[in-house]
Amino acid sequence: MSLVACSPAALHVWCGTFLSRARDADDNLLTPGRGRLESTCKMFELLKRMLAGQNQFASGGLLLMIIGGISVYLRAVPLKAWEWFVDQVTMMITIKDDDAAFVWVKEWFLEQKFLKRIRRVDVDTTLRGRNVALIPAPGHHWFWHAGRPFRVDFYRTEETNSSRPRRHELLAFRTIGRKQSFLSQFVAEIVECHRNNTAITSWLYVYDDGWTRVEGYSPRFLDSVVLKAGEKEHLMKDIEKFRKARQRYRSLGVPYHRGYLLYGPPGTGKTSLVSALAEKFGMSIYAMNLTQFNDKSLMSAMNDVGQNSVILFEDIDCMKTGKTRPNPDQWSVEKQMPKKPGEKEDPLDRFGVTLSGLLNVLDGFSAPENVLFFMTSNQIEMLDRALLRPGRIDYRLYLGKATEQQKTELYRRFFPQASMFDAQWFVEGHPETETMAEFQGLLLALEEAHESGSITLPLQLPESQPVAE
Ligand SMILES: Nc1ncnc2c1ncn2[C@@H]1O[C@H](COP(=O)(O)OP(=O)(O)OP(=O)(O)O)[C@@H](O)[C@H]1O
Ligand SMILES: [Mg+2]
Repeated sequence: MSLVACSPAALHVWCGTFLSRARDADDNLLTPGRGRLESTCKMFELLKRMLAGQNQFASGGLLLMIIGGISVYLRAVPLKAWEWFVDQVTMMITIKDDDAAFVWVKEWFLEQKFLKRIRRVDVDTTLRGRNVALIPAPGHHWFWHAGRPFRVDFYRTEETNSSRPRRHELLAFRTIGRKQSFLSQFVAEIVECHRNNTAITSWLYVYDDGWTRVEGYSPRFLDSVVLKAGEKEHLMKDIEKFRKARQRYRSLGVPYHRGYLLYGPPGTGKTSLVSALAEKFGMSIYAMNLTQFNDKSLMSAMNDVGQNSVILFEDIDCMKTGKTRPNPDQWSVEKQMPKKPGEKEDPLDRFGVTLSGLLNVLDGFSAPENVLFFMTSNQIEMLDRALLRPGRIDYRLYLGKATEQQKTELYRRFFPQASMFDAQWFVEGHPETETMAEFQGLLLALEEAHESGSITLPLQLPESQPVAE
């Protein structure tokens, strides 16, 4: 086609060039660099001649082609110039999903205020200590951080196949500036956030139309709860044994949960012990206040409890309903009573959780799996026998009045510089404190007095009096 349109002169030149290129081929094999340069020069020569040639149609077409090419290139110039400019004034950091830091960034997202404003979110169930977390969805998002605007691009591959069974993800953060130290600081913040998250693996959740994490909750450490010798160790062994026995429970067809009852007078460490044990085993606590539920809401709250967690029923003896379901006479009286504003229509709802409702979630069809139930009570004698049977309560621990050994240990935790002898002397001098909570109050007062300078610690034993003759 293009040969037909060429003039004889141009054709002659083209053939001549072709032949001479063929002739030169042998030389080029020996000296490739020289050959390439020569052939480029010849092509250029050919182009020049064609443009200046007789056939105006061919040379015009060629010219148009060149102009078209240049204009297409120039059209991309503003975009290229913009990209170059953006590259010059911004910096970028990318995190791939095969790097551990990818999860850390997701954890960091959860702590950022801008997350609450984002309208395109992705559900994530892989993050530590969270059942469900909302993180930015794939696409780009803008936010303001450390005094600069940030853009985060979240890429996710859509296709999966046998060679790539998993979708890949990438996060790219871009912000204004050129100093790499700013990016290092940004990374350090993410690492710090991750450290804090791993330091606390036990969260506290309370129910308010859905489980909410209590911000500010800091769990107790097991060392700080002082029990009688061997009690803590025995309890811990029991929990460890249970946590290792999942397969065994499954093969036996036994529901995989275990109930613990801690009972005794107020201020003996029941709540503190639950907090410390949950921290020790890295479990979150779901604290239930039974007076705020009815049977239906209790069941739905239970359905939302995370696996491998502690469900805490405090003061189980204080259930609104008392021991059992209301009897029919009570029902009819209750039904006739005028409804207070905001009170539920169904009297059953007004009664709160019934015993059978509670028993159901502890050991019935709606009982959650892989959880520890902890119940605390000041009056075990108020509890229904059905609640105390194994399967609902498998382990009971009585926390009673503080022993001298407990008090001595607590004293030495407060004042590590004090000798054993000093501690025992102090404890013997204060028999009026019956529970650990009372003794702790006394030690706090002592510490305060020391700080204000009214006493010096450790308290000295009184000088031994000379024996009267
Ligand atoms: N065994 C203990 N070891 C260390 N501290 C204790 C102990 N018992 C109680 N305390 C201290 O006393 C305070 C009250 O303890 P906690 O709330 O655990 O008691 P409780 O048994 O749950 O009381 P209640 O029955 O009133 O709920 C806490 O500040 C805790 O530090
Ligand atoms: Mg308590």
